[in-house]
Amino acid sequence: MSVRVGVLGATGAVGQRLIQLIDPHPEFELAAVTASESSAGKQYREAAKWRVDAPIPDDVAEMEVDATTPGEVPDDVDLIFSSLPSGVGEAVEPEFCEAGYVVSSNSSNGRMDEDIPLTIPEVNADHVDLIETQRDRRGWDGALLKNPNCSTITMVPALAALDAEFDITDVRVSTLQAVSGAGYSGVSSMEIIDNAIPHIGGEEQKMETESRKLLGSFDGAEVSLHGMDVAASCNRIPTLDGHLENVWVDTDEEISAADAEAAMEAMSGIDLPSSPEQLIKVFDEPDRPQPRLDRNTEGGMGIAVGGFRETTDGIQFNCLAHNTMRGAAGASVLNGELLDKRGYL
Ligand SMILES: NC(=O)c1ccc[n+]([C@@H]2O[C@H](COP(=O)([O-])OP(=O)(O)OC[C@H]3O[C@@H](n4cnc5c(N)ncnc54)[C@H](OP(=O)(O)O)[C@@H]3O)[C@@H](O)[C@H]2O)c1
Repeated sequence: MSVRVGVLGATGAVGQRLIQLIDPHPEFELAAVTASESSAGKQYREAAKWRVDAPIPDDVAEMEVDATTPGEVPDDVDLIFSSLPSGVGEAVEPEFCEAGYVVSSNSSNGRMDEDIPLTIPEVNADHVDLIETQRDRRGWDGALLKNPNCSTITMVPALAALDAEFDITDVRVSTLQAVSGAGYSGVSSMEIIDNAIPHIGGEEQKMETESRKLLGSFDGAEVSLHGMDVAASCNRIPTLDGHLENVWVDTDEEISAADAEAAMEAMSGIDLPSSPEQLIKVFDEPDRPQPRLDRNTEGGMGIAVGGFRETTDGIQFNCLAHNTMRGAAGASVLNGELLDKRGYL
């Protein structure tokens, strides 16, 4: 039986990627799309400035866009994907959960709340059961699950592979982030062409906190943050898609570049329909991964790594992921599949 799904913020950069992933999905059936008041009532084709490099699915193009309130979404929708601006998500997502909907959200609001699980299924699927604590505390019939920020998702699977064997103590990371990460109206061409912007509001803090929650331990009732120290510096560059990151890691156990490569290559995936066969692809060429060449690794759902070397304080490597696929829409879809597998729908 298929799972009926709705998408909040369906016309945006991430919303369009969600449509692209849900339309051919073997288990999900798209039943509702919502956006702002200015799009509500229009056909999806008219409301969405379609930018994905594949055609709008015909049946979705003709759907009517609803306003983003629980009353506008059919009761028989089992799962909601949310890709709303965080301020809107903060107000609206709890209304959907109160109304009994289960929400897999990509928006940043609430990610660090104690009773909201933040998951990358291949890394910390067990944290999804924090929903029990959430339901006890909030009295919701529905539930709210978050995926992390796109720059955090790019780095954390690689860190998880290292931490399992070598116990990470410190992480330093500098990012080179694509313009699609800011949404369609986020960065103007006059700002970014022939330029790099060494500031992305709130991004450093997201990487520094979310990574510790993702690698934290869950005792069945609450998550304790990982004790590692994380410091990030985030930069916007004029690539379209794909965040590239330079990462320095220090560990308790001695680690070589070859150890790090082997640990990442061996990192196992998870049996969900959208999970890539090889979660982390290791490149031997010192100048890879690159955004244009490698962002579509494993259909945009893989993490590409390379450039391993030993430093005076541990190791350094580079990692890359497609920010709107693995870093956003694909991450939410995987979390939706996890919710289904764990019986939360
Ligand atoms: N882009 C990325 O790579 C990325 C990665 C990770 C996380 N995120 C997060 O994902 C969320 C969406 O990002 P995005 O890049 O897709 O943004 P976006 O392109 O600006 O799209 C925003 C969507 O939300 C809708 N919306 C705006 N205001 C609304 C309101 N008041 N009520 C209802 N709907 C409203 C928009 O509808 P209209 O078309 O009608 O305006 C549109 O569908 C954000 O929280 C962002 O931080 C993005």
